[in-house]
Amino acid sequence: MSRAIVLAAGKGTRMKSAQPKVLHDLCGRPMLWYVLEALRATGIEEIVVVANEELAPLLGPFGVRCVVQTPQRGTGHAVQVALAALTPRDETVVVAYGDMPLVDATIFEDVQAAVDADAGTGLGLVTARMPLPSNFGRVVRNGTTVEKIVEFRDATTAERAIEEMNAGIYAFDERALRGVIGELTDKNAQGELYLTDTVELLVAGSFRVVPVQAVDYRLVLGVNDRVELAGARATMNERLCHAHMRNGVTIVDPATTYLEPGVVIGADTIVAPNTSIGGNSVLGERTRVGPNARLYNVRLDDDVCVTESVVLDTAIGARTTVGPYAHLRNGNTIGADARIGNYVEVKNTRLAAGAKASHLAYLGDATIGENTNIGAGTITCNFDGVRKNPTTIGREVHIGSNTSLVAPVTVGDGAETGAGTVVIRDVPAGDRVVGNPARSIGAKKAAST
Ligand code: UD1
Ligand code: CA
Repeated sequence: MSRAIVLAAGKGTRMKSAQPKVLHDLCGRPMLWYVLEALRATGIEEIVVVANEELAPLLGPFGVRCVVQTPQRGTGHAVQVALAALTPRDETVVVAYGDMPLVDATIFEDVQAAVDADAGTGLGLVTARMPLPSNFGRVVRNGTTVEKIVEFRDATTAERAIEEMNAGIYAFDERALRGVIGELTDKNAQGELYLTDTVELLVAGSFRVVPVQAVDYRLVLGVNDRVELAGARATMNERLCHAHMRNGVTIVDPATTYLEPGVVIGADTIVAPNTSIGGNSVLGERTRVGPNARLYNVRLDDDVCVTESVVLDTAIGARTTVGPYAHLRNGNTIGADARIGNYVEVKNTRLAAGAKASHLAYLGDATIGENTNIGAGTITCNFDGVRKNPTTIGREVHIGSNTSLVAPVTVGDGAETGAGTVVIRDVPAGDRVVGNPARSIGAKKAAST
């Protein structure tokens, strides 16, 4: 089982950020997460991340081994530090940079295969043909064989014209790497130990360096500043959108649809423009979301429709419609065939099947029964200044417009409140109440047959 070293200790100066570069967000995940995912997908289990002192304490959630490099004296120095912490093995070690989140597993597989193929190979090196200008290191060849890598800042004008770049992904024969890693010097424009200088050293030691060209240079674009971060985000988002579209989801405008890797979307769903879907959201079939919607950690059953609304941490049953301009947050369960209409805010509430709050309401910490109708302007007054209190409303209840439900309070099945009622005490099932404070005007007469 081969091992991988991921370099992430650089200062990330060009980001101009207090946050370590590789933790910057890309479509809902830190950049580093993508590199680790791609490595793991190739079967690599042991990953050592070279970190600086700020990053090291934040690596817990990634499930990797961490080695601290301080001071940061270059990518070659980072690998020296990692190798010193690893028990030597006679196998392939992959080295990658933590700032290239667009990589896929295939690149890592191909470059490992190149070095594994024959014993005289010291290094499989991923290269990429890239339009100029580019600040990547240039791959200098002598005929067809790779001779060395020249960093952009150290390159001559002629070398800068080379369009074959060092991607920053390496599969080394570990023994060959250990043989040359101590020989790096800092005689270069940045005064650093460059990992890239191992190429020339390996060639001098008669090891073969096998170039493996990336199928698409965009897979290996690094992120060094926030302009490149935005570029990487656009590429990643496009990739996510394309995958869903190929799975049967209509995305009207991929350029304004923002997805995250954990999202699942059922076939024949239509995503209208300017919509973000993130977290562990799962959307059923034939749902319609957007335009102008933000969904995070939602579960939508089949045929749900959410337009121009914000829905967070909420499960919604089949055929229910939400919006426009609704805000559902903090853990709601909305049943099937229900309706949440314009300017309705719903928080920590269970709304049963067929229940409706069609206009202008606040429902917080409430439980609302089947087929109950919440009139326009209804408020659950759930906060008494100290505590959040529950409101329980039964089934088939009619809550009149502008009703205030002063919690904790219960309204029984089939009850009715008149417009403007202020409910401060429990309302028995079937009772009708009006006024402020609410008083009973007697039970509804049974409908005559
Ligand atoms: C590097 C390569 C360049 C290649 C490019 C591809 C070197 C010398 N240059 O340039 O040939 O085309 O990547 O993206 O390797 N790091 C450490 N410790 C350090 C310095 C850096 O861990 O002391 C880490 C950084 O956190 C980063 C990675 O190594 O994740 C690469 O460093 P960076 O400074 O971004 O190198 P580039 O200038 O992009
Ligand atoms: Ca870089």
